[in-house]
Amino acid sequence: MNTSQSLFERGMRVLVEGVSSASRGPATFGGAPRYMSHGAGSRLYDVDGREYIDWMMAFGALPLGHGHPRIVEVVSREIARGSHFATALEVEVELAEMLVAMLPHVEKVRFANTGTEACMAAFRLARGHTGRRKIIKFEGHYHGWWDAVLLNTNPMPLAALGHPNDPIRICDSSGIPPEAQADTIVVRWNDVAALERAMALHGREAACVVTEGIMSNMGVIPPQPGYLERMQELCRDYGALFYLDETVTGFRVAPGGCAELYGLTPDLVTYGKALGAGFPMAMIGGRADVMAGLEWGKVLHFGTHNAGRLALHVAKTMLEEMTADQGAGFRRIGDLGRKMAEEVRRVARVSNRHKIVVQGVNSMFQIFFTDLEAVTDYRDFCGHVDRAKFRDFALRLMDKGIYMNPSATLHSLSAVVHTEADIAATGRAMAEVLEEMP
Ligand SMILES: Cc1ncc(COP(=O)(O)O)c(C=O)c1O
Repeated sequence: MNTSQSLFERGMRVLVEGVSSASRGPATFGGAPRYMSHGAGSRLYDVDGREYIDWMMAFGALPLGHGHPRIVEVVSREIARGSHFATALEVEVELAEMLVAMLPHVEKVRFANTGTEACMAAFRLARGHTGRRKIIKFEGHYHGWWDAVLLNTNPMPLAALGHPNDPIRICDSSGIPPEAQADTIVVRWNDVAALERAMALHGREAACVVTEGIMSNMGVIPPQPGYLERMQELCRDYGALFYLDETVTGFRVAPGGCAELYGLTPDLVTYGKALGAGFPMAMIGGRADVMAGLEWGKVLHFGTHNAGRLALHVAKTMLEEMTADQGAGFRRIGDLGRKMAEEVRRVARVSNRHKIVVQGVNSMFQIFFTDLEAVTDYRDFCGHVDRAKFRDFALRLMDKGIYMNPSATLHSLSAVVHTEADIAATGRAMAEVLEEMP
């Protein structure tokens, strides 16, 4: 038994599933996960001394990779001056100024710790600002694990989904009272007609329409041309806030996220993951009049750990690094991500043993084992993506020193520290795995 396996045995006695999130444990790995001891640059090292090229990058939280010298330097310096004060801070103002300067649609920000918390506050704010109760969300989109929006976020058999015009509402968790979700409307994504119908039915009662700019919790599914623009227009027509959840895409796909990439002006955004470069850091941002709803006495948002000083310093350092040299960091992760995606396509073509589609946007990509030419929505994913085969693929890659999360619903990400050599080594390992796989 190796050290990971014995840690898993010990962990199973005292931790639920041996870990602290199902996506790190046996539900995803089918058995013992690899317990990691440290990281450096693009590499992760496990407790058994094995080295991995890391394409997961903490679910996208590490645009600068592991142990970046400037992050190590700023954290070492600042921790010596105190971990957390929960007071007003200069660095809080500085980071907010940077964010407002970078994101034209964001006039004010409020910091939180995790994507889930930021989304919860944003939904409450949308309801408070509009005085409306309904939330329009999309099949396959995830906005954290809060009761009201934990609907239709997991892959299901096609037959369970109902008519695309009226998706069957599937609650993703026990313990959620039905009334918590009574005002949540679920709509098929990437389908203008479905959205127009839903808006005609519910638009005037909707506080917001919330969307991921790129569907990132069913692999990587880009929006159809014009789809998000039409969504924004419909929101304006019906007086609902257009809420773009950039938790995954923020400081990833472009300096200004999906809003920049697709030319959108959302009323409300949420950021997390990459913003904290490995520290818990998230934000709600948007138009000043909407954000004013968070003022004391209106819509409540508290948090002992909001705007933690270490996380603020790290986020500021991350943005300085990524925006230096006219945004060279963003160009680099985009180039590397596109090259890696292209390398997977090349390897799959040469092998020609499995039907594979690779979809990506700049630094994000996912590999689908599917009979389709393209995966365009949640229903394509549910009906046509072989998740068991992807897990087999990812686990075999792990044995060859390549780390990707074994869940096909997630995706891989490039960081500034990846290299052309990493791409080539990953391609070689993939070529071997595709030959070995049944
Ligand atoms: C689009 C989106 N929103 C919100 C969240 C929740 O973020 P967190 O895991 O930090 O709570 C996630 C997490 O994956 C996400 O993908």
